[in-house]
Amino acid sequence: MCGIVGYLGDEQAYPILIKGLHRLEYRGYDSAGVALITGRKDLAVYKSKGKVAALEAACEDKDTTGTLGIAHTRWATHGEPNASNAHPHYSESRNLALVHNGIIENYKSLRAELEKNGMTFQSETDTEVLVQLIEYMMGTHKCDLYNAVQLALKNVIGAYAIAILEKSHPDQLICARKASPLVIGVGKSKSGRTEFYVGSDATPIIGYTNQVVYLNDEEVAYMDRSGKMEIANLNNVKVTPQMVTLQMNLDELEKGGYAHFMLKEIWEQPNALRNCIRGRLNIEQKDVNLSGVIDNKERFLNCRRIIICACGTSWHSALIGKYFIEEACHIPVEVEYASEFRYRNPVIYKDDIVIAVSQSGETADTLAAIQLAKDNGAFVYGICNVIGSSIARATDSGTYLHVGPEIGVASTKAFTGQVITLSLLGLAIAKERKTLTKEMYELLIEELCNIPEKMEWTLANNKDIDQFARQFTYCRNFLYLGRGYNYPLALEGALKLKEISYIHAEGYPAAEMKHGPIALVDHEMPVVVIAPKRGMYEKVVSNIQEIKSRNGKIISVVTADDTVVRGMSDYCFTIPDTRDCFVPLLAAIPLQLLSYYVAIARGLNVDQPRNLAKSVTVE
Ligand code: M6R
Repeated sequence: MCGIVGYLGDEQAYPILIKGLHRLEYRGYDSAGVALITGRKDLAVYKSKGKVAALEAACEDKDTTGTLGIAHTRWATHGEPNASNAHPHYSESRNLALVHNGIIENYKSLRAELEKNGMTFQSETDTEVLVQLIEYMMGTHKCDLYNAVQLALKNVIGAYAIAILEKSHPDQLICARKASPLVIGVGKSKSGRTEFYVGSDATPIIGYTNQVVYLNDEEVAYMDRSGKMEIANLNNVKVTPQMVTLQMNLDELEKGGYAHFMLKEIWEQPNALRNCIRGRLNIEQKDVNLSGVIDNKERFLNCRRIIICACGTSWHSALIGKYFIEEACHIPVEVEYASEFRYRNPVIYKDDIVIAVSQSGETADTLAAIQLAKDNGAFVYGICNVIGSSIARATDSGTYLHVGPEIGVASTKAFTGQVITLSLLGLAIAKERKTLTKEMYELLIEELCNIPEKMEWTLANNKDIDQFARQFTYCRNFLYLGRGYNYPLALEGALKLKEISYIHAEGYPAAEMKHGPIALVDHEMPVVVIAPKRGMYEKVVSNIQEIKSRNGKIISVVTADDTVVRGMSDYCFTIPDTRDCFVPLLAAIPLQLLSYYVAIARGLNVDQPRNLAKSVTVE
C-alpha cells in the first residue's frame, strides 16, 4: 500500500529514488511522483498517473538534478489514481513537499478546520491535508519543521509513514511513522560522509548500506547533510536510534533470468524451504528446536487454546496449521480473519496464545488483531517473512520464515514457508507437551526433510502446464475442491487464479459440492480437484464421479502412481506421495503454475495485478 523512498547525500538523488520506486512498485502502482531539491535550490515536484516507468518518461525533459529527494508509488485510498492525487503533495506556499503511506482517518475534520483558516486544497487526498496541517503548525507555533511535524501528528488519527522536504532548509530530510512501516538506511558516501536512505521497507536501501534504523510508532526522525540524525517522539522526547545490520542481499531482489518474480518465487520453493528448516530441524537426531517455543516453554505447556489471526493467503496457511497443530498437539486452534477478529469483541483468555501469520509483517488488520490480543493479556507469537517488520517487532516471540524476499504480489513461497513453519511449530509444541509418540514425531520430521526434494520432483514433472493452461484463457469460472488438509489449499488455489488472471474461482470442501455449488457444474466448468492417494481418497473419487456425470471438466492433482483418478480426469498434475499433512506443500506448486500460465495466456501482468498491493497497510 504505497511505497516511499528518500535520499540525502552526495550522489544524485533522482536515479536512487527511481530505482527504489521500482523495487517498491509491488506496494502500489497506480501513480508515482518525486520531489527534489534541485541544483538551483528549487523544490520541484513531478508526478504522473501509472507506473514508475510513466514517471520516468514524464521527467525526461525536467530538471532532475539534486542530492536530496523523496519519491512515492501509490495505491489509491482517497481520490482516483491521477496525477493531481499522486504524491508528493506541496503545502500551500510550496515550501514543503510530502509523501505518505497510510490513511489519515480524521482528514475531513482537519481539512474543514484548515479551510476555515483560509487554506485551499489542490487534491482530494488525506495526504494534502497532512502537509497543509504541518505548514499551518509552523506558522501558528513559529517553530521549525521538525517540531511542526510532531505537533501536527498529535492531531492526526490514523496511520502514516511520511517523508518531507522543505525548500527553505534544503539540507534536511524529515520522516515519521505510525502503523505504516519506515526504515532509515545510514551509509557512507565515496568521500566518507554520512548519507541517508529512507524506504517503506529495506528493498530500496539494499546495495547502498546494510545499516538501518527501524522507526517505531509515533517517532519523528531528523537528518541533515552534516550527518546528524535525531529521533524524537511526538512530545519531542529524544529516542536513541537502534542500528540494525540487514542480512538481505541484492541478488535476492533480482528476477534472475525468470520472466516474472512470481515464476522465480515458485521455482525457488525447494531452496527457500531448505532455508526455512535449516537449523531448526535436525535430521540426524530427528528433532525440532524452535527458540520461540523453548524460550516460552511454560506458555506453550499451559495454554488451553491457540488463535491464529491472518489475512488472504496467510489465512489459508493458518487453516492448514490449525489442522496440523490440533492433530499433533491436541490443543484447540481457532483461525480468524484478522479484520473480523479485531472488531468483534472476541473472548480472549490470558492463557491463550495468539499467533499472527503474515508474509509482510505489515498487514494493518493483523497488527490491530495482535494489539487486541496483547491488550487482553494473551501471549502473541509472530510468523513473518520480513525481518524487522512491524508484526515481528510487536509480538512477544516468533519464528521467521527465512524464505527470502517475496516480490510477486501473489504469494507463493511465503505460503509454503508458512505451512512448513506452522508444522515446525506444531512439532515443537508437541515435543514439549509430549502429545506425539516418538515414532510419529520422528516419522514426521523425516518426511518434512524430504519435502524440498519432492518439490523439485514436482517442478520437474509438471513442465507442460504452460501449454495446457492456454485452453482456459476465456474461462469465466473455476471450482477448486479438496478435503482435509487440501481444503485450505483449494481456497488458496482459487485465490491465486482470481488475483492474477481475474477469473472468478471458488474453493470448497469437496463434500460441500452437493450442498449447492454442484448446480454450477456444466461442460464449461473446469473443476480442479486435489486428490492424492491418501486420506479420504475414495470419497474424493466419488465427488469426481458426481462432477463427471454433470459434464464438468476435471483437472486433478494426483499421486504419481495413481491410475483411477487419472483415468477420470481431463488433465492431471502429478506429485510424489507424502503424508496427508504435507500434501499441500507439494500440491500448491501445480496450482501456482496453473494460475501463472493462465494469466500469462490472458496477457496479464502477474507481478502487478490490478487493484492489488503486496502489503495491505490500510484497513
Ligand atoms: O503480508 P500478509 O501475509 O499479511 O498479507 C496477507 C494478504 O494480503 C496476502 O496474502 C494476499 O492475499 C496475497 N496477495 C495473496 O497472494
